[in-house]
This record gives sequence, C-alpha cells and structure tokens, in this order.
Amino acid sequence: MASPISGSTSFDPQHIRRDFPILTRKVNGRPLVYFDNAATSQTPQVVIDAIVDYYSRYNANIHRGVHTLSQEATDAYEQARIKLQKHFNAAKSYEMIFTSGTTHGINLVASGFAEFLDQGDEIVVSAMEHHSNIVPWQMLCEKTGAVLRVIPMNENGELLVEEYEKILSNRTKLVFCNHISNALGTVNPIAHIIDKAHQVGAAVLIDGAQACPHLRPDVQALDVDFYVASAHKMCGPTGIGVLYGKENWLKKLPPYQGGGEMIEEVTFERTTYAGLPHKFEAGTPNICGGIAFGVAVDYLNEIGFDRIVGYEGELLEYATKALHEIDGLRIYGTSKHKASVISFNLKGVHPYDVGTIVDKLGIAVRTGHHCAQPVMDYYKIPGTVRASFAFYNTFEEVDVLVEAVKKAQQMLT
Ligand code: ALA
Repeated sequence: MASPISGSTSFDPQHIRRDFPILTRKVNGRPLVYFDNAATSQTPQVVIDAIVDYYSRYNANIHRGVHTLSQEATDAYEQARIKLQKHFNAAKSYEMIFTSGTTHGINLVASGFAEFLDQGDEIVVSAMEHHSNIVPWQMLCEKTGAVLRVIPMNENGELLVEEYEKILSNRTKLVFCNHISNALGTVNPIAHIIDKAHQVGAAVLIDGAQACPHLRPDVQALDVDFYVASAHKMCGPTGIGVLYGKENWLKKLPPYQGGGEMIEEVTFERTTYAGLPHKFEAGTPNICGGIAFGVAVDYLNEIGFDRIVGYEGELLEYATKALHEIDGLRIYGTSKHKASVISFNLKGVHPYDVGTIVDKLGIAVRTGHHCAQPVMDYYKIPGTVRASFAFYNTFEEVDVLVEAVKKAQQMLT
C-alpha cells in the first residue's frame, strides 16, 4: 500500500520531528521508529531546554526562601500550576495538585477515601483498567470492607454501559475508569459514566494518563470529581503528574503524606494542616519537573489538539488497514472510538518474540500484558505487541513496522 504523503493534512510531521532530538538517532544500525508512546512520549527540545535552564540559572527550594533564586523558582512552579489549571479548565489553580504521576494521584485519593467507606459500600472499576487502577482499590476494599464491582467489556474492547447502569446503586461510593485504555486504545464514554455515577451520589475518578497526550479534557464540563495524568506521556519529564480534584473533595480528603510544606502549625501536641494545594504536597516537590510539565503543555497547545488528534487518527487508520492485511494477525481493541494504539498478535507467535525481532530493526514497541492482566485474561492471551503512535510519527514509519512484522512472521512460523 502506498503511504499517503505525510503532511497532506496541513500537518507537517517532518517539521515537528526537528523538535525531538532523539528521533534522529539510530537503533541497531537503523533509524529509530518510536512506537512506544503509550508507555512514554519523547521530549521536545523546548522541554529539555527548560530543564537545563532551571538547573543552570535558578535551582532553589520553593515556598521557603526570601532569596531571589527561591522566589524565581516558586514563581515558575506556581505559574506551571496555573498553566495546568487553564489546560484542564479547572475553576481554581489550587485544585491542581502536583504528584509524581498518575499512580501517585490514584493512591492519594484511594488512601483518603478510606474515611468515607463502610462495610458493604461499593467501588466500581472497569474491566480494562491498568493495574494501578485496580490494586489501590483492592487495598482500600481490604481496609474498609468495601466491595469491588467491575464494569464488563465486549470482544471489541468496549465497556458494556447498560451493565454499568445495573451495577450502580446507593451502595456505590466511587467509580473509577480510564479515559482511554492503555492496552486497547478504547476511548471510554466518560461523560455518561460520570453522569450516571452522580445520579446515585457516587464520586468519579478518571485516569487520564492515556487520554491527555491526545485530547484536552475540560474537568468542569465533565463535572468530574478527580482526574489524574502524567507529564511523561505528554512530552514532559518523568516523575511529575497532576491530580485535579474538586475543591470540596480536596478539602474533605485527609492528607496523604505528612511532612514539611503541608502544615500550618506544628507542636508536639498537635498539627494543623496547610490549605490547598499544599496540604497534599508534603516535602520538596519535583520543582524542575513541574516547570517542565508546564512547558510541555504549552508546546502541545501550540501544535493544537485538534491537529494532533486528526493526524493521529489518519495514522491509526492507515496502520490498522495495513496490519489487517497480514494473514494471521489479530488486532485486540476494535472499538469505533479509539486512540492511536494498536495491540495485536501473530497467530502462534509469542508477542515477546515479535518485539525482539522488530527491535533489531530499530522499532520500539511494547510487548506483554501492559499492566492490564485482566484484559489479557479476557482474550485468553499472555500479552500483545502494542504499537502506539504520536503526532511526530509518520506513515513511512508505519510501513517500516508492517514490513518488520511480516519479516518476524516469516522467521517465527
Ligand atoms: N502504563 C504505561 C503503558 O501502558 C506504562 O505502557
């Protein structure tokens, strides 16, 4: 199949690729084809520069010093929080809590939520969750006697919404769902999920780790109670993420960690806690990471999410068609509403072997259960090969992948 000319849609990936120094490197003697964007995205020069600038010019601890460097670092960090507030359309900047990443945000909510749960209360999760969205809730259930309920899915990798509605009751206290599945790429109907949960008085936490590289969530329009994301999937650095929480929930939740920065007053008799957001930000945070996260969000918004999602949709369609033409290849996750993620297997071949061969040809894909073992159990497979595309990928790179998969098939069957 002849590849469409990249850039045919007013989008010029070749121009964008110049922003990413890593994309010029070779792997195993071949040009790198980076298709592991769902695990972590690559970093544009402007974000790398922000990190170098911070450590070169104004590295200092924040909220603590009157000296100039500390003031500059504090200003830049708090400006980043405001950028995130605007990006997610939160009502208040203090509703944006810096975390070390999505997993931290989920655990923060799960830990605090113990106070609001009684024996027999129910927590609802979807069948296509990442382990980080299952294990904290199981731990919470063990601690509180609450019960975990699961929204089932179908062969296409779509949630059964009518089953979800049957699960909901006045026992439901918290609903948890990913916005986009990391293993299958399904875009879940979260507006409906949130609305239905609110009708029975349950709170909703949405895991946006996989969605935020592709779209811009509006937390007020969604009326979501909590929304979590990680910078490193959004062209930012690792070790930094954000938890959005509605002010009334964040005020009710107890602190997750005790330490410096999160207090108002400490004596040996008692401690009073700081207000939002500091109550949840104990210790010296990832200051540089927060600032770089803000720069990454600016970078993505300059490109524009409409253009990003439009171009990635074309890549997805092109790659899906080309991979489907390979005999014995099955794609897992065939929902109409999908992000640019393709999970697949070759008949009779272990995904790990495919991953190893394509790596020799310079292609980075993820293989395994993708921290979503229940999804793999559903399909009765040990794992998949997952190719996940970003806006800096090209149709020509998809061609390289397709040829490499054919070669792997020839070698392994
Ligand atoms: N959760 C990340 C992934 O799906 C690491 O690869």
